[in-house]
Amino acid sequence: MKSTIAELPKNVDKEVKIGAWIANKRSSGKIAFLQLRDGTGFVQGVVVKSEVGEELFQTAKSLTQESSVYVTGLVQKDERSPFGYELLVKGVQLIHSSVDYPITPKEHGTEFLMDNRHLWLRSKRQHAVMKVRNEIIRATYEFFNENGFTKVDPPILTGSAPEGTTELFATKYFDEDAYLSQSGQLYMEAAAMALGKVFSFGPTFRAEKSKTRRHLIEFWMIEPEMAFVEFEDNLVVQEEYVSFIVQSVLKNCALELKTLGRDTSKLEKIKAPFPRISYDDAVKFLQEKGFDDITWGDDFGAPHETAIAESYDKPVFITHYPTTLKPFYMQPDPNREDVVLCADLIAPEGYGEIIGGSERIHDMDLLEKRVEEHQLDTETYKWYLELRKYGSVPHSGFGLGLERTVAWISGVEHVRETIPFPRLLNRLYP
Ligand code: 4AD
Ligand code: MG
Repeated sequence: MKSTIAELPKNVDKEVKIGAWIANKRSSGKIAFLQLRDGTGFVQGVVVKSEVGEELFQTAKSLTQESSVYVTGLVQKDERSPFGYELLVKGVQLIHSSVDYPITPKEHGTEFLMDNRHLWLRSKRQHAVMKVRNEIIRATYEFFNENGFTKVDPPILTGSAPEGTTELFATKYFDEDAYLSQSGQLYMEAAAMALGKVFSFGPTFRAEKSKTRRHLIEFWMIEPEMAFVEFEDNLVVQEEYVSFIVQSVLKNCALELKTLGRDTSKLEKIKAPFPRISYDDAVKFLQEKGFDDITWGDDFGAPHETAIAESYDKPVFITHYPTTLKPFYMQPDPNREDVVLCADLIAPEGYGEIIGGSERIHDMDLLEKRVEEHQLDTETYKWYLELRKYGSVPHSGFGLGLERTVAWISGVEHVRETIPFPRLLNRLYP
């Protein structure tokens, strides 16, 4: 009977056939241990010479790393392995013999691994990160579908720049100038006026010359947008959503988190509500902490965000940033012109900002003023302004960066390991 490694627990004491690769191998004169992987998981195959005979034992012993095989064997419980099962091998059929696989069990440098990303993905750790990423995506669809949102797909080729013009990836759209989307938000606002509560999930692009552990040139964003939702209610959706994905990963990726060595007690605490601190108080807090480089009106860098996050064991919302620091579309605080109704959500453990969100301006005159102040072309934003002409309503939304969220939940240091093929400042290969 054919099985996958993931299905082995259902087949204890039965003989199965699996298609697999040899992730690793060790052997003595009498016994060989094959580390098998098939994409669904990893399991140890035990080949005992006295049971399989000389010929099969020699075949097993001579298998090279990453050779592909069909293996038949008896599924057994095994308390010592993290997976809990092993395969007592009865037969091995070589499909393809791999020669000189470059990623050996020894330590390799990051650049070497990144050059071999197409192969590195096969490793146990990378496999675990991709599974966590997949679970976050799955839980995202579940959360928004369960809560009455409709998935909407904004375009990737655009003429507009929601987050400012400095980081745009320019391209030609036949004779016109176009950009790769840096955020689907403006289109999602139009969609919210048609469908009420919407969310998107897609790639976004930032030609940012940043080389940090938090920055990718191409990253994936989840962008919900909600009509008739004001600033406070927007935060509630965010904290419930983030709690939901963390709890889903804990529930459905226990083995992967173990592989990654993640301290799950820290993740268990991630339950709504999350603390909130105003930008004003954050500045005071930092000054008291001895950050004398920060005065009111400055943006926070990674060390500042980390210092603020360290005071909490949950993600923290920093709210009401100065208007001058934020994009043109954010709604000013009705009590104070100099700050906007926005919040960044900062993850614990130094992972930085995972969400940027706000209430959007719904007054036509104010939005027109802002478009001009930001020297944006009114013709390009005509359609966006028109949303304020026909039954304008208060509305809010946010964007969650998938890779930073995967990094935090997995406990992986750098975002380059959280996306299959990272696009980094100096890397387009593979
Ligand atoms: O704060 P940002 O720029 O917000 C927006 O784009 C809004 N239009 C979203 C919205 O309201 N619909 O980006 C949102 C999130 C950040 O909090 C961060 O998690 C992630 O996207 N992000 C990046 N992730 C990896 N690499 C980069 N260069 C990123 N830039 C932003
Ligand atoms: Mg931001």
